[in-house]
Amino acid sequence: MKVLIVGGGGREHAIAWKVAQSPRVDKLYCAPGNAGIAEVAECVDIGVMEFDKLVAFAKEKEIDLTVVAPDDPLAAGAVDAFEAAGLRAFGPRANAAILEGSKAFSKDLMKKYGIPTAAYETFNTPEAALRYLETAPMPIVLKADGLALGKGVLICKDREEAKAGVKTLMLDKQFGSAGDRIVVEEFMTGREVSVLSFVDGKTIKIMTSAQDHKRAKDGDQGLNTGGMGTFSPSPFYTDEVDAYCKEHIYQKTVDAMRAEGREFKGIIFFGLMLTEKGPKVLEYNARFGDPETQVVLPRMKNDLVELFEACIDGTLENVELEFEDNAAVCVVLASDGYPEKYEKGYKISGLEKFKDADGYYVFHAGSKFDADGNIVTNGGRVLGVTATGKDLKEARANAYKATEWVEFGNKYMRSDIGKAIDEA
Ligand code: AMP
Ligand code: GLY
Repeated sequence: MKVLIVGGGGREHAIAWKVAQSPRVDKLYCAPGNAGIAEVAECVDIGVMEFDKLVAFAKEKEIDLTVVAPDDPLAAGAVDAFEAAGLRAFGPRANAAILEGSKAFSKDLMKKYGIPTAAYETFNTPEAALRYLETAPMPIVLKADGLALGKGVLICKDREEAKAGVKTLMLDKQFGSAGDRIVVEEFMTGREVSVLSFVDGKTIKIMTSAQDHKRAKDGDQGLNTGGMGTFSPSPFYTDEVDAYCKEHIYQKTVDAMRAEGREFKGIIFFGLMLTEKGPKVLEYNARFGDPETQVVLPRMKNDLVELFEACIDGTLENVELEFEDNAAVCVVLASDGYPEKYEKGYKISGLEKFKDADGYYVFHAGSKFDADGNIVTNGGRVLGVTATGKDLKEARANAYKATEWVEFGNKYMRSDIGKAIDEA
């Protein structure tokens, strides 16, 4: 069969790498892809929001399955556009992708169906939000309602910061229309865990757990980023936590979406916080995580294409997910200055060292070919270096060893991905 993947980051490279291993796939395309993805797929120069062009391409090439990976096209109805043209596509339709696309929607859903999450209020005007903040308990969390590249969340330690936060989101519109409405939420403490799942509308199958490191600098200092590294599994995701989430969170979310007439087919990514009062949902994403995918898929034994098809066909019930009994760590190599200002266009060397090294992977997040055919840096996050090992300690040592194989101008990484875990 012929498969098209929509997206062009590290997550899409990991998905493309895994899809390419399926014996059922004869030809793989990726739009727009990147220099790393070009090793496993033919890259097509079409942007992720250019639905008309994507659909026309899929028709012309007689694509059997399109996988839409990023949040923006999903929320804007990419899967609906493919389906309207009679094409098969993996991912939630727009009416279900709202689970990630609107924090107000997801909070209301959790409240209505009794799914554990932080207490909250929603505000449509800055005046009402400011009035509430006069007496609300501090610290407090402000969230832009809409999609904001994972950056529309402000943790405010006191009233002054909270008021300034309302200005940032609702008046200065730092995240554009995503801040027209905000959710103001109780501040929670605890370990964070990311859990990805396959959903076919009725059935949900949980993948192995992972943990992200969102801050730019060591020791969780610095600005929030898209993610500087991940590890899998999370030692804090115990059998007890799993059982609790299965009873109170996972299936309930799938059933709630169905009851609302918003049947969800695709990936649900549960951002959980393990609080003293039990696991609670921090957020839902309606897609694979980046860079969680770069540690979860290398540990997965299943044929990914079969899983995508089972979600579309509603046959997930018959599938057993299987993961290696090992661990994986992904260290993001970024351009120094990310997530603010950084330079691009530096030649990347050493990539060939990964080719024959078993258990080592380099997933490209921001790379491209220059006019001379060299692979050069093309983003804030450049590469995700993943390694497996028998446990987290070994996987971490392997991943950091492999980060030394590659060089490029202004290379920057955190040195403590997965470290707190060893010491816990
Ligand atoms: P979100 O995009 O909603 O996952 O939020 C981004 C990050 O902000 C999370 O990964 C948490 O570290 C933090 N965060 C979000 N909501 C809360 C909350 N209610 N209490 C404490 N931290 C939070
Ligand atoms: N790594 C977090 C996310 O994909 O949203």
